[in-house]
Amino acid sequence: MSQPTKGSSFTRDGDSRDQSHRTSDHRARHTESFGHHHAHTHPSGAFDDHGHANLGRPFDGLVHTYIPDMDEDKIYMDYNATTPLEPEVIQAITKALHEAWGNPSSSYTAGVKAKAAIAQARENVARLVGGKPEDIIFTSGGTEANNLVFHSALEAYRESCRTAEQGGDSHHHRDNSRTSSAWPRPHLIISNVEHDSVRLTAEHLLKDAQADVTLVAVSKVTGRVEVEDVLTAVRPNTCLISIMMANNETGVMMPIRELCQRIRSVSGQRHHRILLHTDAAQAIGKVGVDARDLGVDYLTIVGHKFYAPRIGALYVNGPGSTTPLHPMMFGGGQERNFRPGTENTPMIAGLGKAAELVISNLPEYESHMLDTRKYLEERLQAVFGKERIHFNSHFPDSESLPNTCNVSILGPRLQGRKVLSSCRRLLASVGAACHTHRGDRPSHILLSCGIPEEVAANALRLSVGRGTSRADVDVVVEDLRNAVETLESLN
Ligand SMILES: Cc1ncc(COP(=O)(O)O)c(C=O)c1O
Repeated sequence: MSQPTKGSSFTRDGDSRDQSHRTSDHRARHTESFGHHHAHTHPSGAFDDHGHANLGRPFDGLVHTYIPDMDEDKIYMDYNATTPLEPEVIQAITKALHEAWGNPSSSYTAGVKAKAAIAQARENVARLVGGKPEDIIFTSGGTEANNLVFHSALEAYRESCRTAEQGGDSHHHRDNSRTSSAWPRPHLIISNVEHDSVRLTAEHLLKDAQADVTLVAVSKVTGRVEVEDVLTAVRPNTCLISIMMANNETGVMMPIRELCQRIRSVSGQRHHRILLHTDAAQAIGKVGVDARDLGVDYLTIVGHKFYAPRIGALYVNGPGSTTPLHPMMFGGGQERNFRPGTENTPMIAGLGKAAELVISNLPEYESHMLDTRKYLEERLQAVFGKERIHFNSHFPDSESLPNTCNVSILGPRLQGRKVLSSCRRLLASVGAACHTHRGDRPSHILLSCGIPEEVAANALRLSVGRGTSRADVDVVVEDLRNAVETLESLN
C-alpha cells in the first residue's frame, strides 16, 4: 500500500514543529497542513533525556510529524484506500498515550483519565453518526464491526425461532442444526458490490450452511441497488439486509433511507425482525451520515477512512435492548460485554478527535473535495479529449461521494495498472485495496455496474482528500498524459 504524499505540511511554513495545532484558524491550517501528509509523530515532552517516558509530566501539546521514506514529489490520490492522520488526531492519541495510559477500569487517576477519554470519544463518535453514546461499540475496525452485525443477526434469528417454538408456533422447512430443527435457515441479503468484509462473511455463512444468502445486483444503469430489487429478494426467513452506504470504487450512494422505510413496512408482521445494516466506511467524513435519519439498526464506522487511526466502531440503535447485539468474544466485560478486551484508549481518543473534526468541518471538507474532483474531471477531459475519457463513477440519477473519480483512459495499451506504474508522481489504485490479488482482471464491482470489460480494465480510482489542491490535480493530469504517451509509444 502506498503512503500518503509527503510534503511539506510542516516545513512549508518556516518552523515545521508547532504550526498545525497552534493556529485556531482552521482555514489557515487547512492550506498548510492538509495538502500533503504526515505519518509519524514525535511527541515532545513525552520522554526524558534517556528516552524514558515521562509519565508523570503533563504532555506539552506539541506533536512533530514527518513522513520518512517518501519521495517529496508524490501526489496521493488514494484517500478511499486510507487516509493519513490529522495532526490534531495524532496529538489526541499522543496525549492519551501519555496521560490516559491507565486501565480504564481502574479507579485511580490514570484509570479515571482513560475512562474519561473514552467517554468523550464515545460522545463524539455518537454525534458524528446521529446516535447516542450508548449506541457506540468500539471495535478493531470495519471488518470486525461488519462481522459482529452478521453474527448478531444470526443469533437473534435463532433466538426468535426458539421463542416462537416455545410459544407453540412451528414451521416445517429445511432442517438446520444451528437453528431450531423446525425452522428454515436464516436468510441474508447483501448487494453484489459490498466490501469483502461483508461479502466474504456472507459467503462463509452460506458455505457453512448457517444461512441462505441473496446477492442483489446493482442496476447497470444507476450503479446502485434498487429498493424494489431488495424488496423482491425478501423471504419469510430474511433476518438481515446489509447494503453499503457508498461504494468504495465508484462512490455511488445507495438508497439506504428509502430502503429502511420500505422494509419497516414489511417487517412488522413477522416473528423475527429484518435487521438493517449499512457499512458507512466510505461515506463518513465525506457526506453527512445520520443513522437515526437513515433508520438503520446498525452502521459501520471505519476510522482510517476519515483521518483517524486503524480502529472502528459499530453504531447499534439501543444495543441489546432495541436492537440485538451478541458478542463474538467473551472476556473482561468491557464495552458492556458486547466487545470485551481492555480498551485501546489512545486509538479511541484519536477516533473521537477525528469525529469532532468532521462534525465541525464537514461542509468545508465536502465542498473542497467536490470542487477538486470536478476540476480533476474537467482537466482529464480537456487534456485527453472527451471521447477518450470514460467516467466509471458517473451514473444518471445517482448521488455519489464528492471525492471519488473512477476513470478509464480509453486505448488498447492503457490498462489501469500499466498506467499507474508508468506514472512518476501519482499514487492511486485501480480499485479496492482488498482486490489487489485479482491481478490484471478488471474490477468485478465495475463489471457489476455495467462497465464494459475493456473499459473496466483501464480503470483508475482517483480519490481526492481534504487537502488535495488544484495544483496537485494539474501535476497528476500531466503525469497521466506523460504515462499514456510513453505507453502508446511502445510497440
Ligand atoms: C466499504 C468498506 N467497508 C469495510 C472496510 C474495512 O474496514 P477495516 O479496514 O477497518 O477493517 C473498508 C476499508 O477497507 C471499506 O472500504
